[in-house]
Amino acid sequence: MKATALAHSNTALIKYLGKKDEQLIIPMNNSISITIDALSTITTVEFSPQYTEDVFILNDKKATGQAYQRVVKHLDLLRQEAQRKLKAKVVSKNNFPTAMGLASSASGFAALTVAACAALGLKKTPQELSMLSRQGSGSSCRSIFGGFVEWVKDDGTGKSYAIQLADEDWWDLRDIVLILEEKEQRQYSTREAMRLSMKTSPFFAARLAATESNLDKMRRAIKKRDFTLLGTVAEHDCLLMHAVALTSNPWQLFWTSATVKMMKLVPQLREKGLPCYFTIDSGANMHLLTLPEHQESILAELEKHHFIKKIVCARLAGGATIISDHLF
Ligand code: ADP
Ligand code: DP6
Repeated sequence: MKATALAHSNTALIKYLGKKDEQLIIPMNNSISITIDALSTITTVEFSPQYTEDVFILNDKKATGQAYQRVVKHLDLLRQEAQRKLKAKVVSKNNFPTAMGLASSASGFAALTVAACAALGLKKTPQELSMLSRQGSGSSCRSIFGGFVEWVKDDGTGKSYAIQLADEDWWDLRDIVLILEEKEQRQYSTREAMRLSMKTSPFFAARLAATESNLDKMRRAIKKRDFTLLGTVAEHDCLLMHAVALTSNPWQLFWTSATVKMMKLVPQLREKGLPCYFTIDSGANMHLLTLPEHQESILAELEKHHFIKKIVCARLAGGATIISDHLF
């Protein structure tokens, strides 16, 4: 009853913002993302009578508090599915900063769901895995799939899960991940920030109203491989999300001065003939989207700016999978 899974993080091109149902994690709007290879989580889960309580070790440290409770709650959901009561040991490693706006909860809960289901002997389709994973962390339902992914808020029968719009070979998009802050402590978790945004920002409704049309444009951009459309719409939706966060009560600003410097640099790169667009989740770090033929020139430009702590070049990845090397 032991299994290990690898899952990749995903970068939201049209953001998930707001929950219709907080318990089941049903979103207010569909969202679209790309699953990226460079940021990943490996998780090993073992269920055994030798464990008297669930243990969760994240990045070599025994987790306590909320991080621990979220994992236990998810294990309870999966145990209920399998009608088993055994406690588990979970060891997980993210190869990138945790809780810094780089979607560790997405790769984390996708890996946990896939590993725990396998360890419990649950045979689930990717769609079922996506529905289960969603209940651990919403955005993780998209990381079950590779390539271009849409999370459908309601499929018409009340079910909410992710579907693949196109696989990772459809279009060689590049995501240059700019680590601008590695240690900064955020005031709010993504979950809390989202709750505040939905409840208190007068701009929440306006952003929601704009989302259908942006989703349409994004689907079209992916289908036609129209990079300008994809980038323009992704950058705009990112700014809509941050405008909502900024106008919440209390207000939330995820950016640091490095983020703002970088935001200002992106249009300058475009003016130099280097097509690239940014998107930022709930953190200070940034994703710079581009095409392979421009990547080297963009990297050469970025090297001139010493406020960028680390650059990680990502391509599109496949979905979450079982692997044979266990972490313990
Ligand atoms: P991020 O931008 O990194 O997704 P969030 O606040 O959304 O930030 O999520 C971070 C939280 O996700 C962590 O505090 C922890 O509770 C959970 N998490 C991160 N990595 C893992 C993992 N590998 N396994 C299980 N839970 C994880
Ligand atoms: C800003 O999936 O972390 O990255 O469902 O509460 O766990 P919970 O939230 P989470 O939120 C991700 C929000 C986002 C945008 C996105 O990924 O679409």
